[in-house]
Order: sequence, then structure tokens, then C-alpha cells
Amino acid sequence: MIRDWALTTRAIDPTELEDARRVQMKLGEVPQPEDLTDMLVYTSLQELATQVAHRNTGKELEKDKMGRRVMALVAGDEGLHHEFYSGLATAAFEVDPSSMAIASLRQLKGFKMPGTGIPNFEEHSRHIEKAGIYDIPQFYENVVTPTFDKWKINELTNLSDEAEVARDKVNRHLGLLARVAVRYQERKEEDQEKTT
Ligand SMILES: [Fe+2]
Repeated sequence: MIRDWALTTRAIDPTELEDARRVQMKLGEVPQPEDLTDMLVYTSLQELATQVAHRNTGKELEKDKMGRRVMALVAGDEGLHHEFYSGLATAAFEVDPSSMAIASLRQLKGFKMPGTGIPNFEEHSRHIEKAGIYDIPQFYENVVTPTFDKWKINELTNLSDEAEVARDKVNRHLGLLARVAVRYQERKEEDQEKTT
């Protein structure tokens, strides 16, 4: 749907878009979480991150009513995907809390948006960040926080020793992310003041 909109409106150079799409399809690279628990944690975060990014992209399309509708629709779908995976993950926390706590640490620390194989992905990411569509504060506030709030990892009982350590590290990493997000926001505001 986004592709149809992008082609119809010529929002993106159609040749460039098709060339990039062909390269990505040919490579067939997708994130490869280690096992089911990692996959559930990763997809829960990734689907919500995608929703946030699509929603914010829609907000940028002030004068394009159809574009806003397309992005709102796709963002809504991503929200449903997040509900699905994070619900499965919630159930998995009940079945095997230790494995899920350990997977949470791995996936939280190593989280990256799916993009391997997309030509110039790093450059695209920088533009996306600069445009305020998806950045560290949004990752922390709108993706990580609601997802981990849902899982209530600090209420888990009967964790293995390794999982207890992993949970402590998850909490420490959440604290670190919060500080990085605040610092990022402060810097952004300082930069904005300098340019105005
Ligand atoms: Fe999705």
C-alpha cells in the first residue's frame, strides 16, 4: 500500500525505489533471532517501533490527506502485529519466565530495526532520525517502556540464577536507555536553539 502511494504520488523516485527493492529481495536478508523466545521479544519491539515510525511519517504528510490515511492504516496494522506478538510473549513469560528474561536482555541490548539488505539503510536511518520520525527517545518511551510494562518482568518469580542476573541487567539497560534518551532530547533542543 505504501509502495502504491509512493509510486502514484512520485514521493520517491520510482526507478530508485524499484532498484532498491530488487536488491533487497534478491539478498533475502531478514532478522534471524536465535530461537522462539528471542523471536517473540524481537518482534514485539519491532512491530511497535514500526507503528511509531509509520504514525510519525503520516504526521509529516500535512498536505497529503491520502498519504496520511495510508500511513495511519499501515500503522494500525503494525499495532495489531505488536498486540499479537507481545501477547504471545506474555504467555511465554508464564510458561518459561527464565528463558524469556534471558531473551529480553539479548534482544533489548541488540535491538535494531529490520533493514539489513536495504541499500543505504544507515543513511536512510539518519534521515529518519533527523526528521523526528524515529529516534532514541521514541524507542525508549513509545516502544520499550510500554512493551516491558506489559510484561512486568520485576514481578516474575522462580527465575533461574542466570535469569535473575539477566533481569537485573535488563533493568540497568532500561535505566541507561532512559538517560541516553534524556540527553539526546536535550542535545536536540540545544541544536534547535542554535539554529533559530
Ligand atoms: Fe508488522
